[in-house]
Amino acid sequence: MSLLEVKNLTYIYGKGTPFEMRALDGVSLSVEKGEIVALIGHTGSGKSTLIQHLNALLKPHSGQVLFMGKDINADKALTRSVRFQVGLCFQYPEYQLFESTVYRDIAFGPTNMGLKEDEVRAAVSEAAAFVGLKEDYFEKSPFDLSGGEKRRVAVAGVMAMRPEVLILDEPTAGLDPNGRRVILSLIRNYCTQTGKTVIIVSHSMDDVASLASRIIVMNRGKIAMDGSVEQVFLRSAELTKMGLNIPQVTQILLELKKRGYAVNSSVFTLEGARRELLRVLKEGGGAK
Ligand SMILES: Nc1ncnc2c1ncn2[C@@H]1O[C@H](COP(=O)(O)OP(=O)(O)OP(=O)(O)O)[C@@H](O)[C@H]1O
Ligand SMILES: [Mg+2]
Repeated sequence: MSLLEVKNLTYIYGKGTPFEMRALDGVSLSVEKGEIVALIGHTGSGKSTLIQHLNALLKPHSGQVLFMGKDINADKALTRSVRFQVGLCFQYPEYQLFESTVYRDIAFGPTNMGLKEDEVRAAVSEAAAFVGLKEDYFEKSPFDLSGGEKRRVAVAGVMAMRPEVLILDEPTAGLDPNGRRVILSLIRNYCTQTGKTVIIVSHSMDDVASLASRIIVMNRGKIAMDGSVEQVFLRSAELTKMGLNIPQVTQILLELKKRGYAVNSSVFTLEGARRELLRVLKEGGGAK
């Protein structure tokens, strides 16, 4: 039994009106415990619509979402418990901060779950540590923080529910390169330390390559590809047709290969490319 399973999901915005928009069309996938899955796709391909089904914020027009084998829309109690176990952090979540202090904002989820005060405090401290927020921030207003810090408070608010599955919709969108690096490394640490499942929506192929073990590609409401990072990025021609690209380092290696250098272009991260280039240089420049 998979941790999360989506079966033949269809969702139509404005159903029954002249503005019907079939955002998801027969989507099926399953996610296992501990996986780090990246969801990519051109704008409007249905990524956000799909992830909002995973914790029952949207209800399918046909098809099912199963969490631990159970249909999450089958009854209200189950839907409520899934909202805590499948934690969803929206794109630009900092716009949803609303409490007077950082502490209260992070505590919102665990408090709602009915945890006792000391349990809430423990959950908040743990989540703040995951996102690298010191406890001196707790009494500050979230509105006095920098953009990157606000983003971390919002992510911590979801982590504080200790969800089995953490879903992040474009967690690095709109951040500067340093802010992006910080968020990515925090997510990586969270995965290593908790072993929990993470689903991350991203437009950055470089971020995806450095974080995920599996990539699901969406195109016009359907799943176009689902495989390992290598399997997906090797299909660069098809990705280009869908308006997507491959990591920048891979593009450089492919160009070098075209120019006659004996490089392996199945490399998707900066560190991998560094190793590959050093290897080629050591072997005499690699020119054919
Ligand atoms: N509330 C809504 N009402 C009507 N149509 C919508 C609504 N939300 C999304 N859509 C449409 O559904 C389709 C899928 O949208 P969705 O937001 O899931 O895409 P996405 O892959 O997350 O895009 P992006 O990368 O831009 O965030 C798009 O055509 C979009 O215009
Ligand atoms: Mg989206």
